[in-house]
Amino acid sequence: MLIRRRRSWEIPESAATPESAYLSRRGLLGAGVGLLGIGLGAGLAPFAEAAPEPGDPANDPTRDLYPARRNDAYTLDRPVTPEDISGNYNNFYEFGSDRSYYQIADVAARMPRRPWTVKIDGLVENPREVGIDDLIRAMPLEERLYRHRCVEAWSMAVPWTGFPLKDFVAWAKPMSGAKFVRFETFVKPDVALGQRRFIYPWPYIDSLTIEEATNELPLLVTGIYGKPAPNQFGAPLRLAVPWKYGFKSVKSIVRISFVAERPVGLWEQVQGREYGFWANVNPGVPHPRWSQATERDIGTGERRPTLIYNGYGEQVAGLYKGMTAEKLFM
Ligand code: MTE
Repeated sequence: MLIRRRRSWEIPESAATPESAYLSRRGLLGAGVGLLGIGLGAGLAPFAEAAPEPGDPANDPTRDLYPARRNDAYTLDRPVTPEDISGNYNNFYEFGSDRSYYQIADVAARMPRRPWTVKIDGLVENPREVGIDDLIRAMPLEERLYRHRCVEAWSMAVPWTGFPLKDFVAWAKPMSGAKFVRFETFVKPDVALGQRRFIYPWPYIDSLTIEEATNELPLLVTGIYGKPAPNQFGAPLRLAVPWKYGFKSVKSIVRISFVAERPVGLWEQVQGREYGFWANVNPGVPHPRWSQATERDIGTGERRPTLIYNGYGEQVAGLYKGMTAEKLFM
């Protein structure tokens, strides 16, 4: 994603006063080396007895639904990434942009998971706002093993739990003029300190065509590793679109809109020359900053060749037949 070189007089955003107050005890200890360097280490003592995190998935009201039945149609060609690795290597810019200074998991855990509603609007028969628990309980949960590929050329393989986006679309009943499905993340700068950085046009949004959204693959994810997803993965509802670069998989969704015009996603708005609408994985089309020929599996540490459509060509290549004028791979 965007790399901004820090100038010598700038402190990392994690070291700014509000964020240091905001880090959990675990986060503070994890970031301890960096913080001690600027003299904040003495502040550790008051955090010795940290309060339970409001985002703790152990208290999730839908935890009785897990583990869900695994759908064996989706298999992997590599080992599942251990949870302690995938859960500590997250992109979630609402909670910060620098994984090297603190764990996104620790800061994201401070966000309460409830109350949470999802607004369904735009070109649908019955626009409404639903409680997340009612939505999750209305949908058929299943587990799927998917590869997950970031444009930064790292990858993981994870057992998501969720429900097919196509089932949600059928339930929402879009009107015939709906050509795109737009996903929008929360705005809560009180807990998501990254949202105080005005260089990003919050909220995080991205979208799919209605044909992509009704393909069998996209999942609206509610859980991972056989339990409700921890916040850093985008609880309580995130998208998983396994044949596209990860930035299309919007986290912590509060609004799903059916629209006629193609929306401009957050990354496309910020840097349109680097991040396009389609963003389909292709080893032959390099990003301006990252070759896409190979990827680093963060679980095994190995480099492996990148697969066209991240290995899901059989399911999705047909969506793009004849679209020669479109930049399908950026
Ligand atoms: N969604 C929101 N709301 N905010 C983000 O910063 N990052 C995206 C995507 N969804 C992001 C987001 C990017 S760049 C990637 S690679 C994936 O989430 C990372 O998902 P993971 O942390 O579960 O691996």
